[in-house]
Amino acid sequence: MAIVNAKEILVKATEGRYSVGAFNITNIIQMEAVVDTAVQRNCPLIIQASVAPSKALGSKVIASVYRILAQDAPIPICLHLDHCTEVDFCKQCADSGYTNIMIDASKQPFEKNIQQTREVADYVHGLGDLTVEGELGTVSGVEDQVKVAEDEAALCNPAQAVEFVAKSGVDIFAPAIGTAHGVYKTENPKIDFDRFSEIFKLLNGKGVKMPLVVHGGTGLKPDVVKKLVSLGGSKFNVSTDLKHSLIDATYDYIAEHRDEYNPGKLDAAVRQAISDKINYWIDLLGCADKA
Ligand code: 13P
Repeated sequence: MAIVNAKEILVKATEGRYSVGAFNITNIIQMEAVVDTAVQRNCPLIIQASVAPSKALGSKVIASVYRILAQDAPIPICLHLDHCTEVDFCKQCADSGYTNIMIDASKQPFEKNIQQTREVADYVHGLGDLTVEGELGTVSGVEDQVKVAEDEAALCNPAQAVEFVAKSGVDIFAPAIGTAHGVYKTENPKIDFDRFSEIFKLLNGKGVKMPLVVHGGTGLKPDVVKKLVSLGGSKFNVSTDLKHSLIDATYDYIAEHRDEYNPGKLDAAVRQAISDKINYWIDLLGCADKA
């Protein structure tokens, strides 16, 4: 019951003007902490795994743990493959049971981006009730296998966004609007709200058809996040924040308990740190009690 694709929860979120947290995980403990917190807050959830953890743990392992956690959860949960540049691996993860697949061909020329995204969309849709995310323009920074230098980053062209969505078969769409992966280098990154709003209106003028994704959540100020949600950003991606929570909590715990050899206690400290961070984002995105 609680296994869902991304589109169904995001159309609802767009209509209700809240956003669903899409949280990147790198191990099973993070995954459990994210699910437990979302259940406590009664909110819809997107678990994201990028390519490195999907290969390290194995797509079948991640999808199996997801199924077990989601089947019994009273909230809708999607499992998303994040920023995959390899068409074959996108197909493998869809076969394994991920319910939303992001093919990231945003560094390719426009026509090639459409063609690769279309190939993944056709395959994934052929498997059943699964959905696909595509990106246009390029988000700067590093997210796993995708590295985009600042001078390479390009904002999404609104007219091209309409053509891309019409031809590529995507179900949800990530336009580059000036957000970046990783830690922001300036205190006030230049986010192009007008561009985001224009793209939203072009794609959703007559009712919500194409939910929009915001990448690069970590480090955005709360008022920026809230504004993007109010303009129609219904999937909000957060990764670096959770990696920092995991590693900082691990260091802190070990520093304070150097003579203790009890992995369960270390895991509990990490879970708590992840949960605190997820609660921060749930409050900001306004998705509590929206399950
Ligand atoms: P951050 O690492 O900046 O939170 O970005 C996450 C993201 O957009 C994943 O796709």
